[in-house]
Amino acid sequence: MEIHYQETSKDLLKRIDIHERYGSANIDSWTSELLNPHAGMKILDIGCGAGKLCFLFNEYTNGGASIIGGDFSEELLEKARARNSQSGAKVEFRFLDFNKPLEFPQETFDLCTSAFAIYYASDLNFTFGEAHRILKPGGRLFVSGPLPENKKMFYEIIQQATDQPIPPMPGSSRFKGEILNTIKSLFSRTEIHTFENQLTFPEVDPFIEYVRASLSEDRKLWSSMFSGKEEFEVLVDKIQAVARQWFARDGKLVMTKVVGGILAEK
Ligand SMILES: C[S@@+](CC[C@H](N)C(=O)[O-])C[C@H]1O[C@@H](n2cnc3c(N)ncnc32)[C@H](O)[C@@H]1O
Repeated sequence: MEIHYQETSKDLLKRIDIHERYGSANIDSWTSELLNPHAGMKILDIGCGAGKLCFLFNEYTNGGASIIGGDFSEELLEKARARNSQSGAKVEFRFLDFNKPLEFPQETFDLCTSAFAIYYASDLNFTFGEAHRILKPGGRLFVSGPLPENKKMFYEIIQQATDQPIPPMPGSSRFKGEILNTIKSLFSRTEIHTFENQLTFPEVDPFIEYVRASLSEDRKLWSSMFSGKEEFEVLVDKIQAVARQWFARDGKLVMTKVVGGILAEK
């Protein structure tokens, strides 16, 4: 199944910022405690975006791990490289398309990660097969993504506002099924972990900022709900009206992110 999905740095960085401002829990702590990366390791982050996980691992290992971040968005890679040189980190950022063969010899990495990215792969057997090939024996794969119960409130508000079905999301609809099963079929040991983060919005505006950065036309995930800028604005207005009703009723807007982390060993 081919998925036409793209990300812009503006939308991605906005969503990351909103999680940091309104979230109750820190996904970075959860990830680093679960994986405990250490100096000397060779790490590849697939679909690294602006480098969030790469910089986390770099800091956690005090610059002692050899880290590569790969993504197919040159715009996001540029952001990552700019932060890399500003911070003096030595992460290597390079073009990588996870729907194509990964350009690394077999048994190269101790850890391969992918946060909210690799589940957009067209052919899961192929992409996870590639991840398996480039891991050393005993190397680990970590894939995080939304679980089906993720941010129910967000989808309920949109549904109430539009009276339309929510388009299937490639992450949450496939994570516990196809993706977990593919990883289980290729790897020797697989565990699933859960992370919950409650985002509490003290006003409607930041929630609408999140809505804009999620539904954005550039991401091509919500295209069935609008066409062009005007329809996008009409849709956002409708969502805002419902969010205001919910806010008037509850005095806040609470959205719970429910994230799964699949950890597997080669
Ligand atoms: C939601 S973002 C997550 C980025 C980053 N891992 C993070 O946690 O901030 C998904 C990323 O997957 C990347 N991506 C999507 N399809 C890709 C592909 N075929 N090959 C490589 N990267 C891809 C996007 O460019 C984007 O950076």
